[in-house]
Amino acid sequence: MSVDSTPHHVAELGVIIVAAGRGERLGAGRPKAFVELGERTLLEYGIRTVTGLPGPGQLVLVVPDGCAAETLEIVETVVPGGSSWQVAVAPGGRERHESVRSGLDALHDSIRTVLVHDAARPLTPSAVFERVIAEVRRTGDGVVPAMPVADTLKRIDGTGLVRATEDRSALAAVQTPQGFLRERLAAAHATAQARAAADPAAQSAPTDDAEVVQRFGGVVRTVAGDPRAHKVTGPVDLLLLGGLLGESSHDERIAR
Ligand code: CTP
Ligand code: MG
Repeated sequence: MSVDSTPHHVAELGVIIVAAGRGERLGAGRPKAFVELGERTLLEYGIRTVTGLPGPGQLVLVVPDGCAAETLEIVETVVPGGSSWQVAVAPGGRERHESVRSGLDALHDSIRTVLVHDAARPLTPSAVFERVIAEVRRTGDGVVPAMPVADTLKRIDGTGLVRATEDRSALAAVQTPQGFLRERLAAAHATAQARAAADPAAQSAPTDDAEVVQRFGGVVRTVAGDPRAHKVTGPVDLLLLGGLLGESSHDERIAR
């Protein structure tokens, strides 16, 4: 399915927004990407930010079964006619990495650089996307936005006893969008899929794309993340981002 605008065969840049999770920890009774923050669904913020980036580009929205029509309605409302972004909708998978694969399959042949972004990070500023794109193009490596960890980190055992304090300076919390050369990300996901099919118990499901690439020997580097790229996981995160949204009326750079 796709919503057409200008010719897309020249697009080199692809962005996949994964929005097909169930949102069990949020517990809103519908998929998380379709829950509202202020007056917009989480997914709508991501669509606005990506299609506001300099095109041409292709945006793939990976959504749960049954949500495609609603998604296309949002796209038609939000993406102006004549946009240099072409938008497609793809079906989600059971796990996040399966949804990413579905998004990769929907990319045009012309796409060389791909970013994968969580719909659950609705207020991620466009500057983070731009940093990731620039660093992938500069280096050819995988690129993730990273944040220093503020809390003291303890290693605990299965009974909850503290065994050690970790060196925080060597650790980072990573966000999305994560960027890669399209060929490398697709090859890493294909290999991961083949290995998982051969031996399902061998490895746990990867929780981000950097892990998929790294497991197969790819280099992943970091750029500065942003606190506004915070992920909605539980109800308190919606309250936190709601607070940021209040700020945004004074700051056009947030979630425009
Ligand atoms: N995601 C997806 N397909 C899945 C699982 C997750 O597209 N099968 C997406 C989610 O929609 C979200 C992002 O991956 O944008 C990060 O996942 P997470 O925060 O875990 O979201 P959910 O899986 O929806 O939440 P939960 O784990 O609480 O059910
Ligand atoms: Mg999940």
